[in-house]
Amino acid sequence: MRFPLAISCLLLVACIPSFIFAQNTRKSWPLEEGWKFSKGEQEGAFKKDFDDGAWEAVSVPHDWAIYGPFDENNDLQIVAVSQNGEKVATKKTGRTGGLPYMGVGWYRRTFEVPDFDPEIKRVKLVFDGAMSEAQVYVNGEKVGFWPYGYNSFYFDVTDYLNTDGAENQLAVRLENKEQSSRWYPGAGLYRNVHLQVTPKTHVPIWGTFVTTPHVSGEYASVNVKTEVKNVPEGTDITIKTIITDAAGKEVTQKENTQKLNHGRPLEQFLTVNDPLLWSPETPQLYFAKSTISIDGKEIDEFTTRFGIRKIEFIADKGFFLNGKQRKFQGVNLHHDLGPLGAAVNRSAIKRQLRLMKDMGADAIRTSHNMPAPELVALCDEMGLMVMVESFDEWDVAKCKNGYHRFFEEWAEKDLVNMVRHYRNNPSVVMWSIGNEVPTQCSADGYKVAKFLQDICHREDPTRLVTAGMDRISCVLDNGFAAMIDVTGFNYRTHRYQEGYEKLPHSLVLGSETGSTVSSRGVYHFPVEKGAQVIHDDQQSSAYGLEYCSWSNLPEDDFALAEDYDWTLGQFVWTGFDYLGEPTPYDTDAWPNHSSMFGIVDLAGIPKDRYYLYKSVWKPEEETLHILPHWNWEGREGKKTPVFVYTNYPSAELFINGKSQGKKTKTKEGSLQERYRLMWMDVAYLPGEVKVIAYDDKGHRAAEKVLSTAGKAHHIKLVPEKEKVSVDGQELAFVRVQVVDKEGRVCPTDQRSLSFTVEGAGSFKAVANGDPTSVELFHKPSMKVFNGQLTLIVSPENAGKIHVKATGKGLRKGEETIEAY
Ligand code: GAL
Repeated sequence: MRFPLAISCLLLVACIPSFIFAQNTRKSWPLEEGWKFSKGEQEGAFKKDFDDGAWEAVSVPHDWAIYGPFDENNDLQIVAVSQNGEKVATKKTGRTGGLPYMGVGWYRRTFEVPDFDPEIKRVKLVFDGAMSEAQVYVNGEKVGFWPYGYNSFYFDVTDYLNTDGAENQLAVRLENKEQSSRWYPGAGLYRNVHLQVTPKTHVPIWGTFVTTPHVSGEYASVNVKTEVKNVPEGTDITIKTIITDAAGKEVTQKENTQKLNHGRPLEQFLTVNDPLLWSPETPQLYFAKSTISIDGKEIDEFTTRFGIRKIEFIADKGFFLNGKQRKFQGVNLHHDLGPLGAAVNRSAIKRQLRLMKDMGADAIRTSHNMPAPELVALCDEMGLMVMVESFDEWDVAKCKNGYHRFFEEWAEKDLVNMVRHYRNNPSVVMWSIGNEVPTQCSADGYKVAKFLQDICHREDPTRLVTAGMDRISCVLDNGFAAMIDVTGFNYRTHRYQEGYEKLPHSLVLGSETGSTVSSRGVYHFPVEKGAQVIHDDQQSSAYGLEYCSWSNLPEDDFALAEDYDWTLGQFVWTGFDYLGEPTPYDTDAWPNHSSMFGIVDLAGIPKDRYYLYKSVWKPEEETLHILPHWNWEGREGKKTPVFVYTNYPSAELFINGKSQGKKTKTKEGSLQERYRLMWMDVAYLPGEVKVIAYDDKGHRAAEKVLSTAGKAHHIKLVPEKEKVSVDGQELAFVRVQVVDKEGRVCPTDQRSLSFTVEGAGSFKAVANGDPTSVELFHKPSMKVFNGQLTLIVSPENAGKIHVKATGKGLRKGEETIEAY
């Protein structure tokens, strides 16, 4: 019986028309320029010959709503936010940022495919994300629909293209329904769109899977699975895979001939000796270049970037990376980039990640949805572990028009795309199937969790799955938490011990922690701890002692991580402020419209809390930070507490040379006293605050002085980088400060400044980090918030960019940035 079967296979191969195996023609490029955009429904805009001459010319990524104007009526809601434990509906303002992201928007552009022949090429349109409910048309015909605004998706458009090489018309209709989000989602083609051309027989999108089943210091076993599309079963395929290191040096290779039987991908095992292991401290990357040949002819070539590292979650003992226990020092990041809105920009994401890493963070949770591919790639390169999250809502609604409308039909497709997209990224260490989904309290909720977790396991057997759970009593009782690989608790630190004892995995992760609120440079008196504290100025105090009714202060999470092996560490809510969720000012409290949870404000300027995290998360580097500022005219003689965040155990404080005593961190008092040095009874007198820090041997280790700033005198511009590249993506960020004669920031100045950018660049945006500011980000003037703001400049061509800032009563500030 065997013989005839072999013959029939041979015959089959012989019968395959040779054009199926055409030469390698793989190419992909982003569709950035040349788009036309129109807000609102447009009758017939999908048609090929529709006249879009009057539409606005835009480039993609594009967020149609970030240009404002901010208006309380843009997202006014009368609701009870069940998430926050509310039972009665009230008037909610600024919940999603107060920006006009709702409604329909259309995008159109043309594209050509050089030498197009449908018999030998396949053409795909790849969307990294489109907000939302995308309907895609090519040459007047609908090619597909993808509802979830955060996910990457693609359509094979080969059969819709003109076969004569003529221009093709692409039209995309997007729609954001009211009450579809709990934060500012952005709007439009806010992530990149790519056109991909491959040979007809090709490695499909996300069609490789590289894993490292064995990792040790001596050698690593690398498993490469490769799918090939449009090839008949039984065809002999030769695959040659060369692994190179980051410097391009070949470390190993393997070639063999296999068949794709029963849809199984091609599979190879390669061995890398003396592997350089990926970790946040050593983000070493490798490349697997696979060449596919049939009948001696090279058909396609595909390179997968990957890393070699071992991740383990060990009961009672915690999380281990490459054999070493570590606690997640993570932050949650929403996807918006403050003044740039949701429009993806690699350098803006890189800046965020750099700030987080400099603080000592080693992990990101992509709350609460699939990230931009740029973020995951940067985490691979810069060294940050990632929890890729999928959903904020399953089958039970949180928002009237949220994802629950699509869950049943789309959840599996969405998860498959997410896992396949990111399963080769070494930074990704776990998948999250959801955040605080109301389903967690349904009796059958665990079945939904199992359904989703099983999909993740099927698509990627190498990573565990978690979910952010906040209804602890429900999930401990109904089997929901026991179902999920990694127990993720959001807040509720007082229930960790119980979770550890009751659940089978004997580990607890702080999937969401903190939710401490503060506004940069704003200090309220008296200084006291409090939940849901409301101030007349609609700001939260930067003393860092205010939090939400459901949440806690940073110290609770520091202590849990330090005191118990079975805690896995945390993901702080949040690394950066984001648009929307202006807690505790969301109830009839316009104009506040941005979160105050951030460790860093919306302008990318660190708040005081940044240094508290750094002092704990990066003890090897010196931190000596004093707060508050020392310009308190009118408070002379009044109690003005001084806090010092430092990695040193003790310090002595002096006001105008007079000692206020020495303080030492202690486990004896409140949790705050374990991590902060606090002088609560200091009487304010203008002049100088000096702190001298001592190391654990009692030796004088460092000194810092903060003094009362004088009258505002001039504007100082501090570019974050002296040189920026003109790659179409990089942006230059400039810190703008109102300073006194000596160059000290005037910390209470709120005056308006204007900007001009000339030469090799242009003005892009400005932000001051004030959650109540409704000044537009893309207009070149804005008030400083407590003396500072951030200006964003776009380099356009190589040369010098001249940046100027002026303000009433001040000497102007000027700086030059070099674009190369
Ligand atoms: C959590 C939720 C987050 C955010 C946060 C604010 O419950 O998961 O998305 O709303 O609260 O504290």
